[in-house]
Amino acid sequence: MDIYGAFVLFHVIGAVVLEISVLGLLVSMIVLHRRQLLAPTHRSLAMATRFDRAVPVGAALVLGTGLYMVTRRWGWEESWLIVGLAGLLLVAPISPTLISPALRKAEDATPVAYVPARAMTAGGILAGASVGELLLMLMKPSGFVAPLLVVASAAAIGGAIGYLSARAGREL
Ligand code: HEM
Repeated sequence: MDIYGAFVLFHVIGAVVLEISVLGLLVSMIVLHRRQLLAPTHRSLAMATRFDRAVPVGAALVLGTGLYMVTRRWGWEESWLIVGLAGLLLVAPISPTLISPALRKAEDATPVAYVPARAMTAGGILAGASVGELLLMLMKPSGFVAPLLVVASAAAIGGAIGYLSARAGREL
């Protein structure tokens, strides 16, 4: 395997880490919320915190290897690459600015953990956009409309799942 091939491999490994962590984060927050309706629990909170810590690792790996591959072989003429980069840069700050502080606050709030709807919606947008980016990378659509539609609609669906899950059974 040449150096470029190794970067593709690490890009895909980064993508796997990122997808597992953002989806795991969203599911743990939803489970945490559901359990709170019956009894307070911290197991899902610990899971959510672990997944949240893995998000920047996957994002940095995907970003670093992606930038190398673009400069080395692809160039910036491909619209799916521009949308992919912009999308990742837009959603990457969601974890450190909205989700990590909410999880830390929930950890301190013993015995009842509480993750606000805002953080759950943000988690949904992050997970949705990451899945959208994965589809973008696999389909490599041309033009700007299709790539933007793929990422934006996936982010919107994810955000709606996070928000509706937070609303379910609780007055906010
Ligand atoms: C959440 C974000 C991302 C995910 C999940 C992701 C995932 C993937 C996957 C699975 C592939 C292999 C697809 C295939 O070739 O069939 C791929 C290819 C590629 N990605 Fe990404 N990617 C992401 C973000 C980025 C970003 C931000 C860049 C550029 C800065 C980038 C650049 C590339 C390039 C250039 C390829 C083609 C590699 C080649 O086959 O030569 N990716 N990506």
